[in-house]
Amino acid sequence: MNILVTGGLGYIGSHTCVELLNKEYDVIIADDLSNSKEEVLDRIEKLTDKRPKLYKYDLKEIEKVEEIFKENKIDAVIHFAGFKAVGESVKKPIKYYCNNLKTTLNLLEVMNKYNVKKLVFSSSATIYGDPGVHEYKEEMGRGKTSNPYGTTKSMIEKILEDVYASDNSWAISILRYFNPIGAHESGLLGEEPNGIPNNLMPYIMKVAAGKIDVLSIYGNDYPTKDGTGVRDYIHVVDLAEGHVKALEKIEKDGSGKYIYNLGTGTGYSVMDIVNTFEKVNNLKLKYVIAPRRPGDLAEYYADPTKAKEELGWVAKRGLEQMCKDSWNFMKNNM
Ligand code: WQD
Repeated sequence: MNILVTGGLGYIGSHTCVELLNKEYDVIIADDLSNSKEEVLDRIEKLTDKRPKLYKYDLKEIEKVEEIFKENKIDAVIHFAGFKAVGESVKKPIKYYCNNLKTTLNLLEVMNKYNVKKLVFSSSATIYGDPGVHEYKEEMGRGKTSNPYGTTKSMIEKILEDVYASDNSWAISILRYFNPIGAHESGLLGEEPNGIPNNLMPYIMKVAAGKIDVLSIYGNDYPTKDGTGVRDYIHVVDLAEGHVKALEKIEKDGSGKYIYNLGTGTGYSVMDIVNTFEKVNNLKLKYVIAPRRPGDLAEYYADPTKAKEELGWVAKRGLEQMCKDSWNFMKNNM
């Protein structure tokens, strides 16, 4: 089976390519290298002894998308490609809407034309908005998103719903990620954000590496167990395995539309992350308590029951492993 993985050199995409190749899928990658490096392909090859074909294409150009489908018999698509920085999306909404929506629409148009109707889509827990409860369940549906990045994910979910409603021969699996952290245990794949990171773990790693002086903990007066924000952190390899399971299900069923939370079901606070990172890696992180970050919620985590029951998927790797693997990757790549 030929799987087109868009954004396949990125953080979650690269780990998913490795899992797919290990399961004997053939992988074709489309990635414009806007937030990834070509060297990741060498690393995927090192881990799997297979080198996927790479199209260094910007999917905003529909002719380029079509070229990929003309040259390869694609059986299914896993669509990761997209801009994902929350803060930047607030400052540059046009860039985010244009990129995330246009690439997806081009992909759908070409998939439809070539009768490729199996799609796994990277969505996010951010689409729940602020539902007023801590544990998010798929049936709660989409809420009011707080930034253009999140709105693109929500809009794409809606587009996919409409596509399926118009033509039930599609097989679409929407995966709502919680907070992916960690790295491949080999130390060869991990998250390498450009510039100053926004997310907690990349920021912690820069502080641990001495590249940034101090971590700001955004608020210690939330109504949580220790006052800091609580999230559902999930190991990126568990997440990658979830994509393979989602793909297997749509292959088996042939058609249908599914939505799954991919999280562990456990919430950890910012202080839990800091303390665990220090403990397992035997180092100290310099931090200060800073004001709350606008738009942040106090606490949320997944109810992952549906993915367990329908995909047979559960996250297996714990917080210690996530912190160890993140730092191992950073150390190997500084
Ligand atoms: C986690 C916790 C912060 C940085 C975002 C997006 C979401 C998804 C994942 C993906 C919070 C605290 C953070 C720092 C801190 N998007 N924090 N100091 O905000 O849960 O989710 O990333 O593509 O859509 O919204 O993740 O890692 O930024 O924050 O104290 O320097 O860490 O306040 O409680 P978040 P995060």
